[in-house]
Amino acid sequence: MSRSKKLIALVLSIVMLAGLAAGCGGAKEEAKKQLQLTLYCGLMEDHMVMTVKEFEKDTGIKVSAVRMSSGEILGRLKAEKNSPKASIWWGGPADGFIQAKADGLLDKYVSSNAAMIPAKFKDAEGYWTGIYVGYLGFVSNKKLLDEKKVSLPQSWQDLLKPEFKGQITMANPGSSGTAYTMLATIVQLMGEEKGLAYMKQLDQQIKTYPKSGTAPGRMVGTGEATVGITFLHDGIKYREEGMKDLVLSAPSEGTGYETGAVAMVKGGPDQEAAKKFIDWILTKKGQELGQAAGSYQFLTNPEAAAPKQAAEIKDVKLINYDLSWAGNNRTKLVEKWSQAVKK
Ligand code: F6P
Repeated sequence: MSRSKKLIALVLSIVMLAGLAAGCGGAKEEAKKQLQLTLYCGLMEDHMVMTVKEFEKDTGIKVSAVRMSSGEILGRLKAEKNSPKASIWWGGPADGFIQAKADGLLDKYVSSNAAMIPAKFKDAEGYWTGIYVGYLGFVSNKKLLDEKKVSLPQSWQDLLKPEFKGQITMANPGSSGTAYTMLATIVQLMGEEKGLAYMKQLDQQIKTYPKSGTAPGRMVGTGEATVGITFLHDGIKYREEGMKDLVLSAPSEGTGYETGAVAMVKGGPDQEAAKKFIDWILTKKGQELGQAAGSYQFLTNPEAAAPKQAAEIKDVKLINYDLSWAGNNRTKLVEKWSQAVKK
């Protein structure tokens, strides 16, 4: 081969090698871009599955999601504190998030999409952001009430009537954010001593304390119990799904409410994907999506439309629920409740 031909061959092979190297780099870049996200979810399973699918479609991020009640998520995050497996806690009353923040389990993240969310629905330091609001109340089984000739409970005091003995169900405040909202509501309404005495009396009326706050509505719908203490939007969901005997009522003394939240787990493995999830879930689309799965909470993004199904409960009498107090006293109050009712 002539010298010039050798030179051309050398130049060509350098160009080819450079191309190959660039190709490899590109593949590496691609692999790097395939973000993953593990999240713990406090919302209903069907809401979770539908939202995750939509988020994956919109962002290309692969999500692994686990549904648990609030107390379970807190327990899991505590157990995994030194080696976090999840990067997002999505859904469940903010009381639990306040405790998680105090326990050093959350990381600050202020999404640019949080700007439009009113200050009362988010942590002032950016550790969690509220996405929805749910009102606590009673769900009763009309058929069972009629059979027993008992009227619909209209107050916290009504739940103590002898005719409801062994007929009421609420979740365990240790595992459920719903039930903890109820316990904190009672203590805020009556004071700690009277509130715990009330919980002790109510214990005599309780049939079972399931783990999840959504279970009482389902149990009342199937006739396993006559009255359930639950978030009213869950009662509407079950009634719409065919549990026609469900009727809603709310306590005349006033009731508590949740601010359902989202937050980033401290030291979680997928921080970039976690930030993208928070940005996305705060949007109008992210907040409104749940309605298609029967989640009828009010929403915190002023641009998002509240579900029309929630209109029937919009005038329920609310207490001025002290969320910060409730969150910061969660461990102590659950402990005192366990002692009072021996659970
Ligand atoms: O998903 C329905 C819902 O009622 C939410 O509004 C609420 O944050 C959550 O369930 C509470 O679940 P749990 O009481 O099981 O913690």
